[in-house]
Amino acid sequence: MEPNTEAKGSDVTGDDRDFQSSELGTKQFWEDVYVRDLDNFKESEDVGDIWFGEQSQMRVVRWLEDYEHVDLQDAILDLGCGNGMMLVELHGEGYKDLTGVDYSEAAVQLARNIANKEGMTDIKYEVADLIHDVRQGVLTCRCGQYRVCVDKGTYDAISLMPDDALTARQTYRTNIKHLLRADGLFVITSCNWTQEQLEEFFSKDFSLLSVIPTPTFHFGGKTGNSVTSLVFKPKS
Ligand SMILES: C[S@@+](CC[C@H](N)C(=O)[O-])C[C@H]1O[C@@H](n2cnc3c(N)ncnc32)[C@H](O)[C@@H]1O
Repeated sequence: MEPNTEAKGSDVTGDDRDFQSSELGTKQFWEDVYVRDLDNFKESEDVGDIWFGEQSQMRVVRWLEDYEHVDLQDAILDLGCGNGMMLVELHGEGYKDLTGVDYSEAAVQLARNIANKEGMTDIKYEVADLIHDVRQGVLTCRCGQYRVCVDKGTYDAISLMPDDALTARQTYRTNIKHLLRADGLFVITSCNWTQEQLEEFFSKDFSLLSVIPTPTFHFGGKTGNSVTSLVFKPKS
C-alpha cells in the first residue's frame, strides 16, 4: 500500500512518494518482537536487539556528555524506547530523570524488567502512542519539561506506517515540540532518512544544531552514511 501523500503541504517531497510502507510500521509487528524478547529475557536475560547497534547508542550518549550543557538532573525522554537500553546506558552515566515511552506494552514490560535487574528502578516507563496529540492526555505528559528527547529508529518505524504515515509523522513532530523545553534538544538517529531529508521535514519546528558523525561507506563512486544521527533545537 502506498503512503498517502495527498494535500499535505510542503511536507510532501519526491522522497515521500518513493517511500514504501512495511510491517515495521505496525504496532502488531513491534508487539510480537517484544513479546518474544520478553520471553527470552525471562529465560536467559538476553536483552534483545539494540537497533542500529551499540555504537549508534554510544555515539548519542557521548555526544550528550561532550555537549556539556545537559545537566545530570535534566529530564530526558526516550521516544519509542523499545528495550530501554539507551536509558540504561544514560543511567550508568549518571543521568537521574529518565523516562521511556513506547506503544508496545511488551516493550515497556521488557524495559522495566531490564532496568529492575540492573537496580535502576528510578527509570520511569510508560505505554503511549506517540502519534496521538500528547496534550490530550495520551502520555502522563510533562509537556515543555524535557531537556532532551531521544529517538533511535522510532521516526523510521512511524514513517513505514501503512495508513497515512505523513499525518502521523507531522503529529509526531508537533508532539516533540510540545514535550521539549524551549532550550531542549531533539536527538534523532535514522537509517531510513538522509540528513537532508530529516532537515527538510523537521525544519518546520526545529533547526539543526549538530551532526553526530557516523561511519561512511563508499559505493559506485558515491559516499553515504548507513545511519544518520542529528541534533535539532526547537525554533521559537
Ligand atoms: C526500531 S525500534 C527502536 C527501539 C529503540 N529506540 C532502540 O533503539 O532499540 C522502534 C521502536 O519504536 C516504537 N514505536 C513505533 N511507533 C510508535 C508509536 N507510534 N508510539 C510509540 N512507540 C512507537 C516501537 O514499538 C519500537 O520499540
